[in-house]
Amino acid sequence: MSTLSVSSDAELIIARERVELLRAEITRHNHRYYVLDAPEISDAEYDALFRELKRLETAFPELASADSPTQTVGAAPGRTFAVVEHRLRMLSLGNAFNAEELLAWRQRAADLLDREEWTFVTEPKIDGLAIALVYERGCLVRAATRGDGRAGEDVTANLRAIDSIPNELWGNPPPLFEVRGEVYMPKAGFDAMNANIAALNEERQAEGRAALTLYANPRNAAAGSVRQKDPSVTASRPLNIGIYQLGWCDDAPTPDSHWETLGWLAEFGLPTTPEVARHDGIDDALATCEAWNQRRDAQVFEMDGVVVKVDDLNLQADLGIVGREPRWAIAWKFPPQEASTVVEQILVNVGRTGSINPYARLRPVRVGGVEVKNATLHNLDDIRRKDIREGDTVVIRRAGEVIPQVVRPVLERRKDSAEWEMPSVCPGTTCGELDCANEHCGGDRGRLDICEGAWCGAPVSRQDDDVDFYCSNRHCPAIVQRALEHFASRGAMDIRGLGEKLIKLLLREGAIRDPADIYTLPDRLEALARIPGLGQVKRRKGEDLYEVGDRLRNLAEAIRWSKTRGLAHLLVGLGIRHVGSENATLLADEFGSLDAILLAPREALAAVEGVGPIIAESIVDWALDGENWSLAHRLQTAGVEDEIQRVAGAPAETPLEGLRFVLTGRFGAITRPQAEAQLKALGAGIGSSVSKNTTALFAGEAAGSKRKKAESLKLPIWDEHRLIDGLANPATILDWLAESEPSNAD
Ligand code: IVH
Repeated sequence: MSTLSVSSDAELIIARERVELLRAEITRHNHRYYVLDAPEISDAEYDALFRELKRLETAFPELASADSPTQTVGAAPGRTFAVVEHRLRMLSLGNAFNAEELLAWRQRAADLLDREEWTFVTEPKIDGLAIALVYERGCLVRAATRGDGRAGEDVTANLRAIDSIPNELWGNPPPLFEVRGEVYMPKAGFDAMNANIAALNEERQAEGRAALTLYANPRNAAAGSVRQKDPSVTASRPLNIGIYQLGWCDDAPTPDSHWETLGWLAEFGLPTTPEVARHDGIDDALATCEAWNQRRDAQVFEMDGVVVKVDDLNLQADLGIVGREPRWAIAWKFPPQEASTVVEQILVNVGRTGSINPYARLRPVRVGGVEVKNATLHNLDDIRRKDIREGDTVVIRRAGEVIPQVVRPVLERRKDSAEWEMPSVCPGTTCGELDCANEHCGGDRGRLDICEGAWCGAPVSRQDDDVDFYCSNRHCPAIVQRALEHFASRGAMDIRGLGEKLIKLLLREGAIRDPADIYTLPDRLEALARIPGLGQVKRRKGEDLYEVGDRLRNLAEAIRWSKTRGLAHLLVGLGIRHVGSENATLLADEFGSLDAILLAPREALAAVEGVGPIIAESIVDWALDGENWSLAHRLQTAGVEDEIQRVAGAPAETPLEGLRFVLTGRFGAITRPQAEAQLKALGAGIGSSVSKNTTALFAGEAAGSKRKKAESLKLPIWDEHRLIDGLANPATILDWLAESEPSNAD
């Protein structure tokens, strides 16, 4: 009987057509993914098709079919391997994309079980391929892929060749049993393997042989490696396994809970999924799922979510299975990191060292919860290796905070296109206006009639052993702009308020040319106030009066403050090639002053542990340049601290030792890094995420998810006033903590 009695014939006809189309599409994508290891669409696009089909089948039950992809798993085994029937069907998992869906899953289970409380287990959901291993008298006798869930491919010889999968078990395992797990390729192994294939391809190309295809991601690489005809090839691949389930077991008692089962299997030497956790309730499990999202990139393997399982195996049996999914487990899916979109244009920008960096202007698409419009393309070799062209549909990937990358083109969707060429002259400009009329600006032109930005136009070239092309003009407007941005950035001199736009304006007005000029700005505030947008304009008696307002006063304060950033930050700010914060600190500690570093012989620099010959060479080259010398000298004359302040006497007081703070949102009177540095100097630890180990959260304006998390953990949340007061008088922080302790009086 139809649950949707009002569905008209016309609706049903349209729905049937769509359902058939979706089924055909999903089956085709299943084949590409599971059998050919060559997916054509991203996981998120696949999930969207799948969800749409599920929704239609629920709304129109008359269209249900046992062989719909929503009722079956994976794809039928291919023809390369013998077929193995699974004694117990290998299932798939339902998905939860947010907290509501996870809680609804728990509620459905609670209604069926007629109870409210039980324990859960959470495990990383490893993105690899499912494998069933049968052990007889402790020896691996059969390994099979999941296939369509009922029958898979016999890959025993290949899995026996993988070192990390035990061929023989320890201890006293049951006489005959099957375990299930996910075979995966660690991310580092994947990168190394693809790099090897790329190197091989260069040789093949030289010999006129066809190139081998690179693997799209670690999952495909694992699947491709397991399904090799020659086991020695599988053996050469960096593969591992995470066992997540006991399939079946003959003639031996087995534990009553999933948690204990994993411990029991580990005793026989089976590598069970790492970082499994047990939870008293769903709220705790949910907090773990949310926390995992922040840590997914730190794992050695690719994770696409967290599996939440009912721990008690009797309860699992009571809950049973619906369709192809157990009711006792669900996959909490992370927001997708991959999506496909179109490369509208390939453009370049100029880095502070003069490198010409290609990037893709994309048709906007949402990935990992944010809209992405641009993605890096690294360099020409990378563009050629991946074969990316304007107009291509491409898969892009955004992992964590990292800049989005173009992973690969979808060649099936390529129309006529030509290879992209690197521009022969530098397009560097200070303009940067998207609507500028300057034909060299690279933006959509049209609005501004006259571009006020300078344009470089110098020849671009690269050395034989370099992957990057460089602009040949050291006064290239883009290089000057980037060098100033770098000098003022957080990791260097941290001059609050001096960002890209203001630097652009000051350059255009001729107010600065290099970092040393920045320190002359505080003495020129009245003149700067006359630049539109910088000062405060008051109209008196029909005349415009320009006053130094808060913006300029704060800027002057930030510039003065930056003089005390210290030698290591100054070194970073100079932008010497290869000198980052870590080796700048090592150099500052070793030599103590800027002069000593710039005058040190190459060997002395290279001898510093962690510095080495390449960085030493780069420092010497920098110091040999007259313009650089003069810059260093002018910074010193401006009073920028260029020596390590070694304070003799009593050790610094650390009254906040043992406390751990998180700072979030915007603060007005102090920057976050400044506040964090001061808290650290007082002995406190600083965390990047809120957890139960956090002492308190300092929340500025527009604090978002961290504030919510702190609220849910009932942590003290303090505003900017408290931050400033606390830094001035740390003892008060201890008082506030004592106040916020729950009272025992009642
Ligand atoms: S439990 C009833 N635990 O995810 C199925 N699966 O999307 C029991 N997977 O087919 C699966 N890590 O291949 C489970 N810790 C984990 C997992 C995991 C990865 C895979 C597995 C499964 C697929 C479902």
